Amino acid sequence: MPFQPLQRISVRLFSSCCSLLENIANWIQDRPRISPWFYKHHSAEADYRDHNGRMFANLHEQERMLADGQRMAFYQQAIRQHIKRGDRVIDLGTGTGILAALASRQGAAHVYAIDHSDILKHARTLAIANQIENVEFVATHSSAFNTEGPVDVILHEQMGDCLFDEDMVANVTDLRDRLLKPNGLILPSVFEFFCEPINITNARLVPFIWELNVCGYDYSCLEYNRPQDSSYYHLSSSDLNLVDHFLGQPEPVLTIDLHTVNAADLPPQITFTREVINAGRLDGFAIYFRARVDHDLTLSSDPTDPQRAPHWGFRILRCEGEIYAEGDVIETTLTVGKWPELDTWRWTHVKQLAANRALATRAV
Ligand SMILES: C[S@@+](CC[C@H](N)C(=O)[O-])C[C@H]1O[C@@H](n2cnc3c(N)ncnc32)[C@H](O)[C@@H]1O
Repeated sequence: MPFQPLQRISVRLFSSCCSLLENIANWIQDRPRISPWFYKHHSAEADYRDHNGRMFANLHEQERMLADGQRMAFYQQAIRQHIKRGDRVIDLGTGTGILAALASRQGAAHVYAIDHSDILKHARTLAIANQIENVEFVATHSSAFNTEGPVDVILHEQMGDCLFDEDMVANVTDLRDRLLKPNGLILPSVFEFFCEPINITNARLVPFIWELNVCGYDYSCLEYNRPQDSSYYHLSSSDLNLVDHFLGQPEPVLTIDLHTVNAADLPPQITFTREVINAGRLDGFAIYFRARVDHDLTLSSDPTDPQRAPHWGFRILRCEGEIYAEGDVIETTLTVGKWPELDTWRWTHVKQLAANRALATRAV
């Protein structure tokens, strides 16, 4: 047929134009200064949902999660141990459908696999190709999702680098309160949140600009002009060589159980102390988490742990370099406007010298 090549070219041209327009739209939406010229203003929450949905439609985001062996081993084991034959399960934020598929293979009677992102079209294809049955895909945000009766298990992977930044607590507890059986299970449910004083490896350390003296060129005069943009004061990394050591003994500054917590219970301020056991320069505070299922099954994003789940970044809350000796104490206060929004977090610390503490103890 003489028209076939022409038709094929037209179809290719049309789909190239569509994907070009989609890329331009995404590019505009990612630029807050330009996007109001093209799009009506939405609420911050709507903007976040939109950003989240588009981020997870990106195949590379999904690849990074799926290739994270620690993450997948943790979920595989958790599902094997806790999903029982005949369970009705919600997989909140199913992505490519991997956790829903594992739950189905474990014998779940029905899995509602919900996601608000366009990734769901691939999840549907994958389930058919892998002969997964009992999984019902629902394209929706979880807050708009409903089932006919309550479910036995809510399965989810909603942890952001800073644990709370993908709105895990609000998303999961909303489904828990509406759709989980009274003794139903949330998998995973226990999370430990860490904020540890760290020393950064000298070769990797990037001080604030006013702390720099580069080849005798002194930058301290720029201190008067400290940036107001809060994102300047934290950085994200997955570099295992970044953190040289923790100054104190790490312990969670907050532990939550999604079976019982409510978003309103998260404290607006946490104050904690660390006695310095590994002397050195304090360069900042590492934010990371540990998820716990049973006593022995954990998933960690600890920046000093070679067994950490590698695809999660960890955040460093930066501070000016300050030398600490063994026995000194760092008292830190973390004040949080909204837990899912790192830009609303503020941190300060006070140094108590070991020598002064010894004097005070002797006086008592
Ligand atoms: C971190 S990914 C996990 C994907 C998949 N469960 C896995 O473990 O590979 C989170 C997914 O949840 C989806 N998501 C986030 N919040 C959601 C919400 N409130 N309702 C529905 N989907 C949501 C995102 O689009 C994304 O696909």
